[in-house]
Amino acid sequence: MSSHAICIMFSLHIILILLSGACKAAAAPNINQTTDTEDQEALLCIKSHLSTSKPAGALTTWGNSSLHFCRWQGVVCRYRWRHGLMAPRVTTLRLEEEGLAGKIPPCISNLTNLEHIHLPVNELSGSVPPELGQLRRLVYVNLSFNALSSMIPAELASCSRLSPPNLRHEEKQS
Ligand SMILES: *[C@@H]1O[C@H](CO)[C@@H](O)[C@H](O)[C@H]1NC(C)=O
Ligand SMILES: *[C@@H]1O[C@H](CO)[C@@H](O)[C@H](O)[C@H]1NC(C)=O
Ligand SMILES: *[C@@H]1O[C@H](CO)[C@@H](O)[C@H](O)[C@H]1NC(C)=O
Ligand SMILES: *[C@@H]1O[C@H](CO)[C@@H](O)[C@H](O)[C@H]1NC(C)=O
Repeated sequence: MSSHAICIMFSLHIILILLSGACKAAAAPNINQTTDTEDQEALLCIKSHLSTSKPAGALTTWGNSSLHFCRWQGVVCRYRWRHGLMAPRVTTLRLEEEGLAGKIPPCISNLTNLEHIHLPVNELSGSVPPELGQLRRLVYVNLSFNALSSMIPAELASCSRLSPPNLRHEEKQS
């Protein structure tokens, strides 16, 4: 739990860290994409909790059934192993200046492969959901220029993977 304390230090201009990778969701053969609806449902859940002042904005593509969810605007996927198959998983949400309003819903934590959350310059309000702390791969959160309350939940343990238990082991051994 002590590693969580580090994360509290992060301001709402929250930041970090890895260079964002390019979308790897391009067509790949021999992949069973039919089994994986969890990420799609999470995206639709997020959409259902947000409104947008841009009628033709990125969110209009969310839910278009003729587009794979990895093609929805602002969504970046990478292939990950899942149930013995490579499946495209959402790794980045990038919706800057989309007129998004509302609270970031807890169901964002169902995007379990999320690494980058880039939602600056919107009108998001309320607090950051503590469920974000369940996202173990999260390395970058940019929520600057929103109307969020200033408290960062202690559960936002996105940094926990930066100090993995193994590291402590190695320190002891030396
Ligand atoms: C966060 O997003 C804002 C708006 O695009 C940008 O100005 C700022 O540099 C970003 N912060 C980081 C650390 O990337
Ligand atoms: C993909 O997965 C579904 C559900 O498990 C299965 O019915 C289907 O046969 C699979 N398709 C391929 C090409 O493996
Ligand atoms: C869904 O996406 C397809 C392909 O980009 C596009 O032609 C169609 O107009 C979209 N449908 C809606 C309702 O936006
Ligand atoms: C995540 O998804 C499951 C099933 O799809 C759902 O029951 C659960 O409520 C979701 N979690 C959140 C935090 O919304």
